[in-house]
This record gives sequence, C-alpha cells and structure tokens, in this order.
Amino acid sequence: MKFDTPAGANPIDRMKVVGKPTDRIDGKLKTTGTAPYAYERHDVVPNQAYGYVLGSAIAKGRINRFDLAEAKAAPGVLAIVTTLDMPRLKRGQQNIAYLFGGAAIQHYHQAIAIVVAETFEQARAATALIRVDYARERGRFDLATEAKTAPLFGGSSGEGSSAPPIERVGNFEGAFEAAPVKVDSVYTTPDETHAMMEPHATIAAWEGEKLTLWTSNQMIAWSKGDVAINLGISPKNVRLDSPFIGGGFGGKLFVRSDAVLAAIGAKAAKRPVKLALSRPIIANNTTHRPATIQRIRIGANRDGKITAIAHESTSGNLPDGKPETAVSQTKLLYAGENRLIAMRLAEMDLPEGNAMRAPGEAPGMMALEVAMDEAAEQLGIDPVEFRIRNDTQFDPEDPKRRFSQRQLVECLRQGATRFGWSRRNPKPAQIRDGRWLVGMGVAAGFRNNLLMKSAARVRLDGRGIVTVETDMTDIGTGTYTILAQTAAEMMGLPIERVVVKLGDSDFPVSAGSGGQWGANNSTAGVYAACVKLREQVAQRLGLTGDVDFTDGQVRAGGRSVALADAARGGELVAEDTIEYGDLDKTQQQSTFAAHFVEAAVDAFTGEIRVRRMLAVCAAGRILNPKAARSQVIGAMTMGVGAALMEELAVDKRFGFFVNHDLATYEVPVHADIPYQEVIFLDEVDPMSSPMKAKGVGELGLCGVGGAIANAVHNATGIRVRNYPITLDKLL
Ligand code: MOS
Repeated sequence: MKFDTPAGANPIDRMKVVGKPTDRIDGKLKTTGTAPYAYERHDVVPNQAYGYVLGSAIAKGRINRFDLAEAKAAPGVLAIVTTLDMPRLKRGQQNIAYLFGGAAIQHYHQAIAIVVAETFEQARAATALIRVDYARERGRFDLATEAKTAPLFGGSSGEGSSAPPIERVGNFEGAFEAAPVKVDSVYTTPDETHAMMEPHATIAAWEGEKLTLWTSNQMIAWSKGDVAINLGISPKNVRLDSPFIGGGFGGKLFVRSDAVLAAIGAKAAKRPVKLALSRPIIANNTTHRPATIQRIRIGANRDGKITAIAHESTSGNLPDGKPETAVSQTKLLYAGENRLIAMRLAEMDLPEGNAMRAPGEAPGMMALEVAMDEAAEQLGIDPVEFRIRNDTQFDPEDPKRRFSQRQLVECLRQGATRFGWSRRNPKPAQIRDGRWLVGMGVAAGFRNNLLMKSAARVRLDGRGIVTVETDMTDIGTGTYTILAQTAAEMMGLPIERVVVKLGDSDFPVSAGSGGQWGANNSTAGVYAACVKLREQVAQRLGLTGDVDFTDGQVRAGGRSVALADAARGGELVAEDTIEYGDLDKTQQQSTFAAHFVEAAVDAFTGEIRVRRMLAVCAAGRILNPKAARSQVIGAMTMGVGAALMEELAVDKRFGFFVNHDLATYEVPVHADIPYQEVIFLDEVDPMSSPMKAKGVGELGLCGVGGAIANAVHNATGIRVRNYPITLDKLL
C-alpha cells in the first residue's frame, strides 16, 4: 500500500482497541522469566557447545602470532579460531569496525579469537590460556586533542546527505555580531555505553550451507544482509530469529561479533555454538555513543527573538565512521533568519561510535537547551516564554516545508501550568530546603519522525484467530501489543483473538526497531496487510459495498456473518507493505515535548537529586498510552543518567573504556527517580501513516539532560557545560 496522501477516516479511528492503555500481551512471559531470550534458547537446536570471545589487549597495531598450545590442551576445548586463521572479513553495510579476521587491530577488545568448549566455564578458562604476541602502535584516543585538526564532515545532515559541509542560511556572522544579546558557549558530552540488560548473545547452527542465528537484534533484515556479507555467503542461506530482546538502545541495531564468531565457531567445531559477549567485552567490542564537543552561538534582539543561531559539533570515530549528529535538532527547532550548522569528524582509534538512545538529538539537545537557558537568562525573559517566542511552524532552513504537526508551544504551556512553573524563582540559588538548594529547569523536547517502509503478513484461521507475522522486533518497547491492537482493530476482534509473531527473518521485512520509527511504521504495515485481508474476507463471504468488521462479525447490506466463517474453507493469508511517497519531503515530521525538572543540590556536598520530572509530549496518535508512558519514563530515566552519571572513562594512554561493567558505569536506579509524570497531548497526524501516530520513545529522552542542567543552575547559580554534571563540578 502506497501512503502518499494525508490519511482519511479508516477503521483505526474507531479506537476500540487502539489507543487503549493495554497491558503487554508478552508481559506474563517476561515477568515469569519464560520469554525466550537468545542465550536461553536451549531447545532450538540440540548439542549446543559454548563459545567465548577473546578481545585484543591493545587498541592499535598488529598481531604477530598466537601461542595456542595451552589453550588447545585445556579440558573440554573443541575448537579455537583466531583472527590470523582467516583474512579480514568484509564489512557489512552497517559496520564501521571490522568484526574479525586479519592481523590488524583497530580498537581495544576487537575480537581476535573464539574458543569453543563443552561448557561455558571451560571455554572461558581456555580463552585465558591463549598467549598473544602483539606489535602495539600509538593511537589517537583524546577527542579534545584530535578536535583541533578535525576536518569538516561533508553534509551535516549525516549519511547520504548532499548538503554542503557548512550549512548556512542568511548571514550568521553579521547577524551574530550585530545582536545585542549573545551566547557563545562550548558544551561537552562524554562517550557513553548502551548498558542494556541483556548482553549481545547468539546461538549459531549450520545445516550444510544454511546458517541459523538465534540472536538479539533490533534490525533483522539489515543484520541478515550484513552477516551474509561478513561471512561471504548468500543472504538466502542466513536466517535470524530474535523474538525477544532484553534492551537494545541502538547497541543491537547491527550485527556484532557475537553473531559472526558464533557462526565461525560453529563451523569449526561442527556443533551449534552459543555465545554471549561478557559484560566487560561489550563496552569496547561493540559500539558506543561518541563524545562530542559542541559550540553554540545564539544572537537575539532585546525583545527575545533569535536573529542568529549556530551549532557546530565535533566527534570522533574509526576510519569510515560517522559523526554524532548532535546538530540535527538545531536545524529545525527554533526560528531565526541567520543560521550556521557544521560537524567535524576526527579519525580516532577508540571503539566504533554508533547509534545510541536517540543518536544526535539526545546529546545535541543537552547543549542547545542549555544555550537557550543562557540566552533567556541574559535577556531576562522566562525560559518557557523565550522558547515560545522563537517557535516556528515551518522548517527555518526551508520555509516551504511546514511541520505536519507542531505543538511545542502547547507542550510548554501545559507543562508550565501542571508543574507549577510560576513558583520558580528566576534568580538562581534562592530556594533553600534544609541543606538542599532547590531549582527548576525546563527544556524543549524534539526528535524527528522517520517514515520507513514496513511489511507484514496476516492470517485468519477457521477458529477466528488472526496471526500477524513480521520481522519487526520488540526491544522492550511494547511492539507485540501495539501490533495486536492494530490487527484487532482492523479485523473487529478483541485483542485476545490476535497472535503476534516477530523477529524471524523468514517473515516479511518490517521497519525494525530504531530511531523511534518502529511503532508508527510497523503498525502501518500491519494495517496495510489487514486492509488486504478484509478484502479477501469480504470476497470469500460474498459481501460487497461498505463492509463493517466489528465484534467478530462482518456486516454488509443487512447481512452479518462471523469472521471465522470466512476461513472455514481454508486459511486466508494476506501480505502487504506500507510504503511512503514523498510526503516527508514536502512536510517536516517531528515530535515535540516539554521537559520540566525540579532538582535539589546539597549545599555542602554538591550531591544532586532529581526530585520531580514532567514530560508533556505531542507525538501523533498514542497507540497504547500505557506502553507509551513506559517508553517515556524509561527515556526520562536515561536523561537523568546522561545528565548526572553516565560516562565512559577513556584511558588516553592505552585507548580503552575503563569502566566497562554495570558496577562502574553508573546508570540511575529506582532511588534516583522519585517522581515522574507524563502527559500526551491529544494529537493525530494524518501525514505520518494510516495510523496517524508518530514515534515517542526517544522523544522522552531528548531535552531531559538540558532541563536537569538548567534546574541545577537555577538551584545553585552554577552553569555546568561539561556532562555528566557530577558533584565535583559544583564545588
Ligand atoms: Mo535507536 S539508538 O535508533 O536503537
């Protein structure tokens, strides 16, 4: 189904099932520990052996030789494959780092060997007996140093963009120079790791030429293609199966060494191999969010209108890598006639930088929204009001492109009322609660809404059960439930009559889970398949004209037939893909929020406690308010992590992330998050898809860090521009 015009009325608008705060249909499996996660799939294939990955102990250089004598002689060892046993594997389309093969070392903990043994303990013990002779070279590990010579990255819009390296509108320098009020600040965000609960894990089995990977992966079709490229085999011979994912956060968008080495180990051992990357390996072996250095300049006139705005961001990555696109929201969020956007990319020898939890906007908003607070402070204008004055209903770089929906002002206004913003003292460091200094901060929330083609298959059987099959994934987001709601709504059934099967590469190719595009696109794919199924049902039942599907009945022209009757003569199967024309080229689709935070800072120790958080979100139709709220409060929690805790410590001598486990990489716990509230504005976006929905998960993160930094400033008068805001920066 091609969707290239605004959606008219359709069965989803009835909102009998869609739009209800429905419990997760997979909730019981998860809370009883019976959902089959990759490493626990003991039953999918017999005779599983265990793999263990050895990571490089140097960050750059070469391997001269391995001494495997002791490891080979260790109990239970079935096979050892080292990186010298094969040429460097081709990179997949989504890979930046090389995953295995050859003598060259690109980054610390690059996979250099796999040991396969009868038990996990034997594999791990034997791995420790491998001796490696390295030739170490000097590497580039310090972003601040490399930033000085980092070249401009061609096309600030990111991959595939034809935009010039520096995007300009009007005359930024002239307007900034002339502005009576100016902010010119530099902000830094650190390297961060996804820290998802479930490690990267795969069980690999070969059946002749055919490889099956039971794995944990957000983007099944991408990864099927890439694993085929990595291993030099036909994608026809690769199957991925990933029905449950214990958190991805972007770290499982791409196939990583667990999948590739499990496949290589299984071939060598002639046994299925089960492999999980150990927690200490994950931080340096997989991907991370790269650190940024961001300079923002805002020039405004006295009445609070932005006249000039510039955002430049520098980050680092391995050769052929991409920058963290921290500038992207600044292209769209606020009005202003004179603009400048640029990114610089330093080539570095740290592990691969790639997508993590709202890549681009998450760290970008942590800078922009503090710069906005600084400008408002200088102007003596309330920061809510300053943002409202600089709202725009069209793309400020291209006024012909209007936002399909943009309710930022309404988010800010409702949020301010709800949060009690009028009680905020605009003068910092005035409010005392015992030993605590208390302050409030606000930030806008912004994240784009991306349209991705997405397919699904739906079946109707003679019992009246509808089964949905798509390679879409559920990374803890609630996909199972919203797809079931969609099919139930379309076919006029209660949700209990719908079965959803996900994550198998034998199913139709979906949008996958990433960039908050999963919900709107994958439900739209199910919608498209259901439209076809409805046609088949009507045809089978001989119903014409206006056919209504409600309460398990199909009605037309005064006749009413049970839906199940349509499949008595044999199952009905329909498959379709939602595809988008040029809608998002002529319209800008984005999601908006206002984030409010109250923070308290211990006047003596500098300890920072977030006391209250509120997010008001405008993100199209909310398909399942309960699941959406869970997404947003989870994202807000990540915002607390980013603002106050999360930081990979770089060892700048040896080039690795030191705090590579959950004991030393701090993330918020329940005690850090006393109170969160989420409000969704009533919105449908007829431009987004027949579902009229948009993404919401990452929106919940983008802006939170800035709101916290602004609250800390309001509490203390201290402006911290280097994240995370740890207590030492307040003393
Ligand atoms: Mo998200 S970082 O695109 O999985």
